[in-house]
Amino acid sequence: MTRSVFDPAAAAYDQLRPAYPAEMYDALERLSEMSLRGARVVEGGAGTGIATEALAARGARVLAVDVSLAMLRHHRVPASAVVGRAERLPARDGSVDLVCYATSWHWVPFDQGVAEAVRVLRPGGSLALWWNKSADRDQTWWRSCWASVCRRGVAPGAPYARDYEVHDLDEDLRRTGAFTDVVRHETRWERSVPVADRLAELATHSAVIALGEQLDDFLAEQRATLTAAFPDGMVRERYLTHLHVGRTG
Ligand SMILES: C[S@@+](CC[C@H](N)C(=O)[O-])C[C@H]1O[C@@H](n2cnc3c(N)ncnc32)[C@H](O)[C@@H]1O
Repeated sequence: MTRSVFDPAAAAYDQLRPAYPAEMYDALERLSEMSLRGARVVEGGAGTGIATEALAARGARVLAVDVSLAMLRHHRVPASAVVGRAERLPARDGSVDLVCYATSWHWVPFDQGVAEAVRVLRPGGSLALWWNKSADRDQTWWRSCWASVCRRGVAPGAPYARDYEVHDLDEDLRRTGAFTDVVRHETRWERSVPVADRLAELATHSAVIALGEQLDDFLAEQRATLTAAFPDGMVRERYLTHLHVGRTG
């Protein structure tokens, strides 16, 4: 199976999803106690390579793995991209310095994902997981957006339906006993985007893609909400990039 829910949105995903801030990659090097220069990295759920590109720019040798051929067709570092699954990473035991997932770990069965990471990591290697999360959850425009998605029906059991926001990921990682240390870092940042871009970016989220024939109606509703909240037509978005690093002994 070489498909994912993101397939129809692959090109827009690459153009519109935000990249991760440089400070996050600095923290990654610090917390994993390794330089990315020359590091052997396996990136799971790499998508179109938004993170791969930044890791490669810092000198990492990245193998970018994703189930979706459609996402990989838009990959920014095509030579590093292969079809594969997080549950069976295409790497030998103990051969990797860093395993990472950017905005994709929530798609991976937790126990299998950890076991595979630990299998391919060398002793002293790290598993790093990060996400760009909205820091606008207290804003009416943000809340009404996701309330509308939920009202329209989120498929039960789908990864986006899981409440991983209230889940203590560090504690879950510690509980596996696979890591000698689990540490975290948060980077706060913001950007302004035109309403049209915000709407097009919304349509790359799995829960929104899943709206199917309700999508146009949902986007029209969101256009009205955003235009009222941002009369100058520019949406000011605040983000927190959460990074979690588990170091092996
Ligand atoms: C939200 S996207 C993140 C893409 C990219 N890492 C980024 O930062 O933009 C999640 C990606 O995980 C992939 N994916 C989902 N389940 C997977 C699995 N079990 N193994 C590998 N990739 C998976 C999807 O195809 C999709 O490209």
